[in-house]
Amino acid sequence: MIDNNSIENLKSRLDIVDVVGSYLELRKNGANFKAVCPFHNDSNPSLVISPSKQIYHCFSCGAGGDSIKFVMEYEKLNYPETIEKLANMYNFSLTYTDSEEKKEDRKLMENLTLFFRKKLDNQKTAKEYLLQRGIGQSTIEKFELGYAPSSDETLNFLRSYGYSIGEAKEFGVADISQNSDRAYCRFIDRIIYPIRSRNGRIVGFGGRTITNHPAKYINSPQTKYFNKSRLLYGYFFAKEHIFKQKRIIITEGYMDTIMLHQAGFHNAVATLGTALTQEHLPLITKMEPEIILAYDGDDAGILAALKASILLSQHSFKGGVILFGDGMDPADMVHKGEIEKLNRLFNTAQPFVEYAIEIIAKKYNLHDGLEKQKALKEGMSYLQTLPATLQESYAGVLSGKLNLPQNLVKLKRGVSQREKRENFIDILELTIIKTILSKPSLIDTLLDTIDISMFKTHSQEFKLLLENRYEDTKLREIMLWEDIKIYDETELISAMITFLIRFYSEKLQTVKSDKNLNYKEKQFHIRSFQEKIFKLRRGELVAYEE
Ligand code: UTP
Ligand code: MN
Repeated sequence: MIDNNSIENLKSRLDIVDVVGSYLELRKNGANFKAVCPFHNDSNPSLVISPSKQIYHCFSCGAGGDSIKFVMEYEKLNYPETIEKLANMYNFSLTYTDSEEKKEDRKLMENLTLFFRKKLDNQKTAKEYLLQRGIGQSTIEKFELGYAPSSDETLNFLRSYGYSIGEAKEFGVADISQNSDRAYCRFIDRIIYPIRSRNGRIVGFGGRTITNHPAKYINSPQTKYFNKSRLLYGYFFAKEHIFKQKRIIITEGYMDTIMLHQAGFHNAVATLGTALTQEHLPLITKMEPEIILAYDGDDAGILAALKASILLSQHSFKGGVILFGDGMDPADMVHKGEIEKLNRLFNTAQPFVEYAIEIIAKKYNLHDGLEKQKALKEGMSYLQTLPATLQESYAGVLSGKLNLPQNLVKLKRGVSQREKRENFIDILELTIIKTILSKPSLIDTLLDTIDISMFKTHSQEFKLLLENRYEDTKLREIMLWEDIKIYDETELISAMITFLIRFYSEKLQTVKSDKNLNYKEKQFHIRSFQEKIFKLRRGELVAYEE
């Protein structure tokens, strides 16, 4: 483990402007800097970097934090990886505590990959197979393609390197045969595609037969290192390009991904023989790319694209579907040199919602009134799962496809996040909160007189403030909000007085119209509130009473 003191030391050397500036182009903006936010699809710079507060914050998507958080999110690294990365960037040497839990990485997968690669060099048939499919030497090297020989040969290699069968089993490369109790290697006589995790570690393999074995592909099983529903093949090589191009091409096959990269589509990835599901989304959500699904045009592909389109549109992803027909997949097209055509296809993908509506409509015989009604019902229940703006834009597409008047398409109207926010801003409350945030010592002035229950709109933020939760998005946002001033002590007191007068005046009104109080009670409360308001008007603070 990295020693905590050395982390603190490193932290104290970091400057947010420098760190963020090494990734993004910054523009000076008053006391702060601005940049185009990398964490959502930003058109004008919404990311604010504050040198005085050493934080960044995006006013559009809410992303924010300190230098470390920025690198974590940007590079998609975990905490220790980020610390190491930053230490590297700033030439800082970290100290490590010797911890017993730190298990030595024995690099079984890396060494096995090297072994498979060497085997490929000496295996003429396999090499020829790859060449004949149009794969070049540099692609073989980039994707570290290899060849798995006989089971015995691989097991011997593992043994000679001191790996136990247990270890090989843990990584899913070997198993024990049920019949004979003997160990065997899972990959035999196959082209090997090493699969890297998002951080670049080799966690699994795909193996394609070149001997017409009935199982065309054998893949690594689920292990504690390898979860194929959360990985995308090629992601490690593609992520930087996905980020830069704001686009990802998702294919169904290893070969498609490799060939697309070879043709210059460096943003291509593949699912690992599974459907695209919610579990994959964390890999891409932050980068907010446009997503192109490049799937086979057979029934399975059409259905897989429908499911993925529904999922992605529900998450407001931009992008669409391309189905490849006539037995041609992206790999075949690259092999034939049809790069321009591929490019055109990727640029004219059918938008997810349109595709989904079309496929839903196609399930029914629209010449039959009853069937049409069912199609309308299914179409509407899909549309209603979408964000409000999407529902509106596609209502016409649904009615059009079904040849029905648009008023038959009933939508569920929600309130947008922004609309919600704008109705709920109270500048007076925010000013008080921001002032305390920047001058915490002023809290003493406030605690006797103001209670959290008095905040009508921003009690949650006030609570965060009392709990010193400065890293919270809401507080960061207030800190960076230029329209909200930071007051000095005198100004704060007069703001508090305004706040309190407002509070007690409202209380007074409520008590006056309260039918549950008897005359005496009413009189008592009215007097007490009036007295408070009177004092406040004279500039005197009044203590809060339960
Ligand atoms: P495809 O049959 O389309 O294979 O399966 P491919 O990728 O085009 O491969 P080539 O071009 O024939 O060499 C698509 C994906 O489905 C998974 C693999 O991930 C494959 O890339 N698959 C396919 C399996 O896991 N097992 C199989 O037996 C077949
Ligand atoms: Mn193929």
